[in-house]
Amino acid sequence: MKNILITGGAGFIGSHVVRLFVNKYPDYHIVNLDLLTYAGNLANLKDIESKPNYTFVRADICDYAEMQRIMKEYKIDGVIHLAAESHVDRSIVDPFTFARTNVMGTLSLLQAAKTYWESTPEGFEGKLFYHISTDEVYGALELTDPEGIESPFTTTASSSQHHLAFGRDFFLETTKYNPHSPYSAAKASSDHFVRAYHDTYGMPTLVTNCSNNYGPYQFPEKLIPLFINNIRKRKPLPVYGKGENVRDWLFVEDHARAIDLIFHKGKVAETYNIGGFNEWKNIDLIRVVIKTVDKLLGNPEGYSDELITYVTDRKGHDMRYAIDSRKLQRELGWEPSLQFEEGIEKTVKWYLDNQDWIDNITSGDYEKYYEQMYSNR
Ligand code: NAD
Ligand code: DAU
Repeated sequence: MKNILITGGAGFIGSHVVRLFVNKYPDYHIVNLDLLTYAGNLANLKDIESKPNYTFVRADICDYAEMQRIMKEYKIDGVIHLAAESHVDRSIVDPFTFARTNVMGTLSLLQAAKTYWESTPEGFEGKLFYHISTDEVYGALELTDPEGIESPFTTTASSSQHHLAFGRDFFLETTKYNPHSPYSAAKASSDHFVRAYHDTYGMPTLVTNCSNNYGPYQFPEKLIPLFINNIRKRKPLPVYGKGENVRDWLFVEDHARAIDLIFHKGKVAETYNIGGFNEWKNIDLIRVVIKTVDKLLGNPEGYSDELITYVTDRKGHDMRYAIDSRKLQRELGWEPSLQFEEGIEKTVKWYLDNQDWIDNITSGDYEKYYEQMYSNR
């Protein structure tokens, strides 16, 4: 494969995938297609923007004619589809935008890939439509006695506050979809369309479902960058509910490496779960973030604990996500590269060293959104 279309490449995960592919595969032409919504930012890709194997195209995935034109103009062989509306809180106040982008946008891209590939002499041969999805489509797990699966990874976190598992159940590739938020409902619907294109038309597709990512270039509406920024600015840290919900965290570069591996070695029509067996209760994770920021800012230990502010819970807040990624390890040999504490330290350091990046994107419209979103909490 030579011409690869990466959608949502100016966003958080997409920018890491674009960077990895542009640097690792000089023989590939990487076309980054992004609408540059509030979440997309070309500053995320400054280091690679002038590479000869990289092209940026600003376009809306919902614009079917434009998707057809781009597939044809760049003779696209492979699609890695990340473009989406991605923030659960926004989906609760504006579900239509999520249905439009995540469902109709994915459908428009699928149909454009299908019609273009069918028009080429080799048809679907050597082509791949790889759709990036989330663990949230599986629904929520309970907090029960932790007698779960042992992590197969040596890089699993080892903090004293951290429990490996908060329940017996894990999301498997075979777990029935049961989305609860408008965001996850829209992602689930897009996953179904992708699989339907394989089952109906024989189009080569693949889906992966990943757990929560963290790392550089994440928009500061998501928990970790929001809290790092708020600690720096001495603003309250809004903990939803009792802070007892559990998320399974993976360093974003490990997700990008998994995407690279699966894109090249994954089996068509398969689903792979991606996650590092790294579950954290929100409040425990928040304390690690506070401790790390205080340490790097030279504050005394415990200095920013007073910023913790318990607020009204998120509507329909899923209790626990936990990914079983042993299929990916077993079949393709992937494993995460970092211990969690190492990843968090790297991440906090990046945000503190790149304050201009965060200040630029949190000015203007975002400030208004943030005030409105949190004024009632
Ligand atoms: P993000 O919000 O940071 O980036 C999304 C990107 O998509 C932005 O650059 C935005 O401009 C672009 N975009 C939005 N609407 C578009 C449209 N109509 N046309 C073209 N581009 C558009 O999201 P992210 O956190 O990087 O997530 C990327 C993908 O990975 C999403 O599909 C998300 O569902 C999935 N995912 C995210 C996580 C996570 O923890 N962040 C975990 C698992 C899966
Ligand atoms: O699991 C994968 C998903 O992870 C991705 O599909 C989504 O795109 C991504 O946004 C993320 O969803 P979450 O809702 O889990 O992430 P978020 O960072 O918004 O919240 C993490 C947890 O922290 C969640 O339990 C809600 C809580 N939270 C979040 C924010 C923003 C707070 O307590 N306070 C906050 O201010």
